[in-house]
Amino acid sequence: MEFSIKSGSPEKVRCSCIVVGVFEARTLSMPARKLDKSAGSYLAGILRQGDMEGKAGTTQLLHGTPGIAAERVLLVGLGKEGDFGEQAYRDAVATTVKALKNTGSKDVLITLSDLSIAGRNAAWKVRQGVLAIHDALYRADRLKSKRDNDKPSLGAISFLVAGKDAKSAAAALAQGEAIAQGMNLTRELGNLPANICTPTYLAQQAQKLAKAFKLKCTVLERAGMEKLGMGSLLSVARGSHQPPQFIVLQYQGGKAKAKPIVLVGKGVTFDTGGISLKPGAEMDEMKYDMSGAASVLGTFHALAAMKLPLNVVGLIPATENMPGGAATRPGDIVTSMSGQTIEILNTDAEGRLILCDALTYAERFEPDCVVDVATLTGACVIALGAVASGLMANDDALAHSLLEAGQTSGDRAWQLPLWEDYQEMLKSNFADIPNISGSRAAGTITGACFLARFTKKYRWAHLDIAGTAWRSGKDKGSTGRPVPLLAHFLLKRARKL
Ligand code: BES
Ligand code: MN
Ligand code: ZN
Repeated sequence: MEFSIKSGSPEKVRCSCIVVGVFEARTLSMPARKLDKSAGSYLAGILRQGDMEGKAGTTQLLHGTPGIAAERVLLVGLGKEGDFGEQAYRDAVATTVKALKNTGSKDVLITLSDLSIAGRNAAWKVRQGVLAIHDALYRADRLKSKRDNDKPSLGAISFLVAGKDAKSAAAALAQGEAIAQGMNLTRELGNLPANICTPTYLAQQAQKLAKAFKLKCTVLERAGMEKLGMGSLLSVARGSHQPPQFIVLQYQGGKAKAKPIVLVGKGVTFDTGGISLKPGAEMDEMKYDMSGAASVLGTFHALAAMKLPLNVVGLIPATENMPGGAATRPGDIVTSMSGQTIEILNTDAEGRLILCDALTYAERFEPDCVVDVATLTGACVIALGAVASGLMANDDALAHSLLEAGQTSGDRAWQLPLWEDYQEMLKSNFADIPNISGSRAAGTITGACFLARFTKKYRWAHLDIAGTAWRSGKDKGSTGRPVPLLAHFLLKRARKL
């Protein structure tokens, strides 16, 4: 897909289709009204006849509109004018591409980007527009012998923006493209089954990314991890025939001495629960348990494509969690890289066991801050559903900037408390810390409390993406979240927002 920015008179643009918005109660949006002047009120006439009510999700394709150079006009319902905002805008853009996908339209001019949304500028609308289009066109058909997307008709999409905004909109377009490509990488990896997407495969993907963007990538094998004393991470890998991998990615876009931001992603390529075996229903979904890792890779793609002036390190502990003769047993005690001993009361709480060693490893970078991303707890799905990722942090400013990045990108997070009171729930009779609390209460928070024991030396935040990284049900699949949140966080850090 080719994206571009256009300014000036839309009625004169020669293209296959021009897209205009209609509000409920049959009122033309501002850009549509301007266009309708050239069309001699032809569009207003269509509305009057009742062919287009303006309900969100509806469209009407017109051919040969008088006074307009484009071959077609697509009317897109925007819903009630008073309710129109960020989400309605994204939805309208998605509705547009779905409606045009199987028509003859090859090059399209979208005027929706000229609608006003409180607090959002042209750059925001273009960036979000590009993301919404990629999201709507994504198909998880890589492993189907006949692909769903055989006849891609749409080839070029331009956004209409006012001339004064053209420059910032062009920059936003490139950002949107970079983030969308990163999201697509994350989705592809998330959707791949565990017999293909193994820890070794993840390491190969990281190396491929490093090659494409000239990043530094090192991968530690089992022996390297043993040397570092990563006993907690290794305890999870014991049941699997797949060798664990510890992936280190480094992007140096900032000053040589600038402290890096470290992103850590949970890379459990399949989570059976181990000896604390999960029930069978929907266990296939546990192939997504490497979504944290995939989102770190996707964010690196976006970051490198945007050439942001930052230093960023990516850490991915990758392993399977399988039962087996050599697997860790409930009650086993292991020593983490930090020196703290851990009583593994439930082998299904494995994410924290691999993350804690990665978080200790992060210390060597003297990070500005560390953000870990993990499908950590089912409890987070219960608390926040698929709408918001869970956010917990030991630093308020860091938490705030992540929340804001989520709000701006539409990839929202919601903060849960990490008060000391919850730490009381993590007590072991035999080791320094158990890997689960004795009760199911506040499961998302106690998971984060475990991690907090390993993050005392730097500013740290934890994103629990168990509910947001994928969709369950009929349209199940990876979402590419929280790449938009992380990319916006980095954009802001780089002063590009
Ligand atoms: N990968 C799961 C968390 C998960 C569950 C993500 C459901 C998405 C949907 C994680 O490793 C896990 O099994 N967590 C346990 C923790 C418990 C044993 C304290 C859980 O949530 O049940
Ligand atoms: Mn588990
Ligand atoms: Zn897991």
